[in-house]
Order: sequence, then C-alpha cells, then structure tokens
Amino acid sequence: MSHNTFGHLFRVTTFGESHGKALGCVVDGCPPMIPLEEADIQGFLDKRRPGQSRFTTQRQEPDAVKILSGVFIDEASGKQVTTGTPIALMIENVDQRSKDYSDIKDKFRPGHADFTYEAKYGIRDYRGGGRSSARETAARVAAGAIARKVVAGVCVRGALVQVGPHKIDRSRWDWDEVDRNPFFCPDPVAAQEWEKYLDGIRKAGSSIGAVIEIVAENVPAGWGAPIYAKLDSEIAGALMTINAVKGVEIGAGFASAELTGEENADELRMGNDGKPLFLSNNAGGILGGISTGQPVVARFAVKPTSSILTPRRTIDRAGHEADILTKGRHDPCVGIRAVPVGEAMVACVLADQFMRHRGQVG
Ligand SMILES: Cc1cc2nc3c(=O)[nH]c(=O)nc-3n(C[C@H](O)[C@H](O)[C@H](O)COP(=O)(O)O)c2cc1C
Repeated sequence: MSHNTFGHLFRVTTFGESHGKALGCVVDGCPPMIPLEEADIQGFLDKRRPGQSRFTTQRQEPDAVKILSGVFIDEASGKQVTTGTPIALMIENVDQRSKDYSDIKDKFRPGHADFTYEAKYGIRDYRGGGRSSARETAARVAAGAIARKVVAGVCVRGALVQVGPHKIDRSRWDWDEVDRNPFFCPDPVAAQEWEKYLDGIRKAGSSIGAVIEIVAENVPAGWGAPIYAKLDSEIAGALMTINAVKGVEIGAGFASAELTGEENADELRMGNDGKPLFLSNNAGGILGGISTGQPVVARFAVKPTSSILTPRRTIDRAGHEADILTKGRHDPCVGIRAVPVGEAMVACVLADQFMRHRGQVG
C-alpha cells in the first residue's frame, strides 16, 4: 500500500522526512524534449525556503535541488532536456537540529500528526514531525516547477489574501506587489498592516491562520473531465493534501451560498476577438468539472501553526496527562510559505489534466 503518489499521467511520488538525509520526488510521465536545468526549479524552491524573513521559521535550509535522472543533452539544441523517463529530484537536509525535539518524543503535540501517526503505525520519526513535516512540501514545489514547463502557456500565481481577521482590499490587488513584501501579499497597504500584526503574534510566541488564493491564467477551455475527474475536485484534493490546510474553495466558493441565481451564473457574450466572453467568474473558471477558458481561481485556508510558545495540555505514549512546550523554530503564520506550495499543486494538477485531455481528445 502506498499513498505517496499523486497524478495520473503526470505522476509525482515524494519521499523523505524532516530530519532524514534528504527528501525529494520522482516525476514520472513528463513528456520528452522539455528543456530542464536545476536553475529552473531552484527559483521556485527559493520562494518557499525557510529563514528568509522574521515571519518564517529560522531553520536555515539552502534547499538546493539536484536532478538525478531523466535528463540528457539534446544534440540539436545543445540544451539539457527531459528524456521522458522518471525525473528524480533530491534536496538534502542540512540544518536538522534533532535535539530541539528530543524532549517531546514521548508526548503528542496538539495540532500535529504525532498522535495519529502513532495510532496508525506504532512508530514515528518524532524529529521535526518526520514525514508529516511540511519540509515534504519542498519536493512538491520542485515537481511543480517541472509541471509549469509542461503547461508552459499557463501562468499559475498565488497570493496571501487574509491573515487572521485581516483581509486584503481586492481593489488594490497588484501582482507586482506580491514579490515586494515578505507575505506574498498583493495589497501594499495590507502588507504594511500585517507586518505590525504579525510582529505582535510572533513576539507573543503565538500563531495565526491565513487564506491563500491561487489563480491560473491562460488555461484553455476543455481541460478537466466530468464526474470523477473534475478539474475542481482534483484541485481541491491537491490543495487539501498540503499540511495545515483545512478548507478549499473554487471561485465564489462558500460565498456562493449567499448569492441568487441571477447574481451567481456567469453570463456570456461574444468578445471583440470572436471568442466567448464571460461577464463574471463566480465559477472560478470551471463548469461541469471542465475549464471554461477563464482564470481558474482556488482559495485555501491554512490553520495557525500548532507549535507555539505557550504550554499546552496533552498526553504521553503511556497515557499519562502532561503539559508540553514546543521549543523548536517555527513560523508565526505557516500560510505565508504555503503560497508557493499551493501554486505548485495547482500546476501539477493542470499538467496532469492537460496530458489526460490530450490523451483522450488529441
Ligand atoms: C509551508 C508550511 C510550513 C509549516 N511549518 C510548520 C511549523 O513550523 N510548525 C508547525 O507547528 N506546523 C507547521 N506546518 C503545519 C504542520 O506541518 C501540520 O499542521 C501538521 O503536520 C499536522 O497536519 P495537518 O495540519 O495537515 O493535520 C507547516 C505547514 C506548511 C504548509
């Protein structure tokens, strides 16, 4: 039994633990002749990398990726390209401080997977959460960089749109702003407000949840499939596999419950370019599980970091009640670093759906 793989034709298997020697993934099914260098992947890993600001964990991991297989120099172009064989990617762990976790090896950290891994497997690598650690998401980001190349015309971008109760003002949305602040926030005013707010959270040793929005533009109409392979169901499933994600919505999402039929259904006109023009996008670019050609829009809610500096009540492996304090290095808001991870998961789903669409209808 194996549950470390996702995707059908563009298939990703990840491996590794937080404090093991390395983590990585095998991307199987990637088409041949796609130019691919480590630098193409590294840029995306650098966005997810810890220790880049005071608002993310200070664990210092270079997250340097190595391509172990599946590429070769194309004689015609002189470029390194994919060969159609499995692409293995490896990222070494260099800043593991297992001693930070040694005093919690017998206690279950509330909000973490300690209790459930123990209940299921009877053994767990307690160092940094082992396999349940979000270090694993580095491998997804690496796979996502390859997926982007498979669907090169598609632009997948993400942004943090809410931190705790503080939402962005959508009228100020500026994609260029996302790279200018440490939060991937598209609203410059909100980014400034969040700085103060998150400093307070961090100094109190506390944490807070967040909402991330992923937008995929230039997805042509027709990707996805009805019923059991709906594009929205696969995006929702993929986002839900990210650590700490507790809610996913597509388009208007839960807000559509408050809309009337007149308000919600996206009306159609013919555009000046002779193509169908939707007058709104409450559907988030997906109807009947198939892309409409409008931007695909998904949002996901990330819970607050469970490891906080306040003692919490728990039990130990022997069933004794205890208090626990997690002293490791942690993010006050894990939603920040979840942005590139969400982008990668949506890119992987789109690459997979593109290949399946091509497989069925040419
Ligand atoms: C990018 C990212 C980084 C994370 N870092 C931490 C962290 O430093 N401390 C923590 O308590 N949880 C962190 N988490 C969340 C935990 O991995 C997660 O809550 C835990 O494994 C339990 O799984 P679940 O929340 O999905 O049920 C992170 C999540 C993401 C997406």
